[in-house]
Amino acid sequence: MSSSKPTVLVTGGAGYIGSHAVLALQKAGYGVIVLDNLVYGHQEIAEDVLKVKLIVGDTSDRALLDDLFANHDIAAVMHFAAYAYVGESVQTPDKYYRNNVLGTLTLLEAMLAAGIKHFVFSSTCATYGVPENVPITEDESQKPINPYGKTKLMVEDILEDFDTAYDFRSVRFRYFNAAGADPSGNLGEDHTPETHLIPLVLLTALGKRDSISIFGTDYPTPDGTCVRDYIHVSDLADAHVLGLEYLLKGGETAAFNLGNGSGFSVKEIIEASRAVTGKEIKAIECDRRPGDPPMLVGSAAKAKEVLGWNPRFADVKAIIAHAWQWHQKRHE
Ligand code: UFG
Repeated sequence: MSSSKPTVLVTGGAGYIGSHAVLALQKAGYGVIVLDNLVYGHQEIAEDVLKVKLIVGDTSDRALLDDLFANHDIAAVMHFAAYAYVGESVQTPDKYYRNNVLGTLTLLEAMLAAGIKHFVFSSTCATYGVPENVPITEDESQKPINPYGKTKLMVEDILEDFDTAYDFRSVRFRYFNAAGADPSGNLGEDHTPETHLIPLVLLTALGKRDSISIFGTDYPTPDGTCVRDYIHVSDLADAHVLGLEYLLKGGETAAFNLGNGSGFSVKEIIEASRAVTGKEIKAIECDRRPGDPPMLVGSAAKAKEVLGWNPRFADVKAIIAHAWQWHQKRHE
């Protein structure tokens, strides 16, 4: 797409959140180049749906990055590429530290060498661990309880130090639970394996699974199941464009929570999904899944105030309805 606005490199742009960010950037008039190793990303989403230039490669490939930055006029980088399975990160932490930390450091060094100093980073509410205060603000202490969250916090620390040392400006977005799909139905969540609640509930509604397991019913929450703050992926994408514009206008390095500020239990999500789909959705109560904090709900007041972010799809049923539309289309 030709563009009068600058070009942004989006790593992980063939993945779930990254692909929605590419679409938001395109709609806002930015040029976009995607770097994705296609381990979890989808080539057809990048090339056929988004029709974006896709470079297949890894953020740890310094020669590829140097070549990419030498041959394209890149104003900023949005960095989504990462491994993001909490359970897997406990089993194989080396894989997570290598990809999420070393891969990012290589990318940052290549950016510095190329003189590119604007960076929008996908961080996570998993950096807070088990919070002492809910709703969680950005000042909450960050004590991640799994390697995945630790890798994201390590990169957050690197970014603070790069700001001090190199005037390297970044926005770190700490997402709560990304969910939903682009309202067009052309983009959505497609993980293999799938571990997230809403897609698993909807795959059950579609008859692709017999039942949904409820992991734990004895948490200190109103109905005993875990409470999460679900945020529409298109709203996350919009925030990234605002974060980019904030940096390009000279904004200082900052961290922002991205959530809706309201929590829904696992049982409430299943109930809302029954209402949206009209399907029965068999649920089975199971033991807790290790490592799940009881309640994660964020305050995004800072993103609203500083960036002017205004989520369009705060209603959890709208989030589920968009995800349902995508899953139905995918499994037609
Ligand atoms: N859950 C079930 N059954 C399932 C799957 C999930 O009951 O089959 C429950 C989980 O135990 C949890 C809730 O649904 O209580 C949400 O689980 P997800 O796996 O959908 O999401 P998480 O909250 O575990 O993970 C999300 C992001 C991670 C991030 C984490 C921060 O996907 O990347 O939030 O806690 F690290």
